[in-house]
Amino acid sequence: MKTAFITGATEGIGYELVQLFVRDGYHVILVARNEKKLMEMSEKIKASGGQADYYASDLSQIDNAKSIYEDLQRRQLLPDCVVNNAGFGTSGQYTEIDWQKEQEMMQLNMLTLAYFSKKFTHDMKKRGYGRLMNVASTAAFESVPYMAAYGATKAFVLSLSEALAFELKGSGVSVTTLCPGVTESKFHATAHTINTLQKSKLLPQATASDVARYGYKAMMKGKTIAVHKLGNRLNILVSRFLPRCIVTKLAATATTE
Ligand SMILES: NC(=O)c1ccc[n+]([C@@H]2O[C@H](COP(=O)([O-])OP(=O)(O)OC[C@H]3O[C@@H](n4cnc5c(N)ncnc54)[C@H](OP(=O)(O)O)[C@@H]3O)[C@@H](O)[C@H]2O)c1
Repeated sequence: MKTAFITGATEGIGYELVQLFVRDGYHVILVARNEKKLMEMSEKIKASGGQADYYASDLSQIDNAKSIYEDLQRRQLLPDCVVNNAGFGTSGQYTEIDWQKEQEMMQLNMLTLAYFSKKFTHDMKKRGYGRLMNVASTAAFESVPYMAAYGATKAFVLSLSEALAFELKGSGVSVTTLCPGVTESKFHATAHTINTLQKSKLLPQATASDVARYGYKAMMKGKTIAVHKLGNRLNILVSRFLPRCIVTKLAATATTE
């Protein structure tokens, strides 16, 4: 039985990805903080004949990520597929956002993702097979005023993952960067960007299920960069030909209250 390790498995895009792995017969290993939700999810999966394990853990603490990886090694659970999806955003003036929150976000969105990416692809390379998917954002392609640090974390994810994909060419290990645009999920309540969600009725919007299905397919095909929705791909293409100051101004209009 193949194994998939998914972070941020209890909500939004991660939850929908779990359903796809279960549908395809994977033993899923779920990570999030809410133990009750994790327990309910894994019981439901087991009741329908699937296999599930979970870790209730705060991945904004790198030591927790290390403990999970070491525990999987000890149990000889070597995932065939790994999805670094857990992430959150902060919004507002960079000078005003609470530093503790920003630090947790940077640790979760970058440090833990970088650690799992390194460790799991190292093991996959030895076996000559594996698929990694890191969830970035369309925000990775531009600087994002009023979500400055969040945008920067996603630029890090894209840059790291694209380079890693290149390094692993021919090894049997693929690295996919999934870049969702605005997606309906709990993300916007956490990031206080409900306003952005409403404003973006003009921009391409998606459900978590659509994004997950698109990302899952791209990951299984071994695609390097997967930007969800044609409208988002066009925005990114056009912005390459515009002066950066204009691109930043346009990004700011989407994130200001
Ligand atoms: N929604 C969007 O518009 C959008 C757009 C572009 C990119 N993205 C990216 O897509 C990914 C998934 O977002 P989503 O929209 O599905 O968000 P979501 O609905 O808020 O789900 C986030 C998931 O991550 C888990 N999580 C949050 N903090 C965690 C922590 N410290 N440790 C462990 N798990 C944690 C949450 O569970 P617990 O709360 O139980 O820990 C939940 O399962 C994120 O990386 C996000 O940046 C989202």
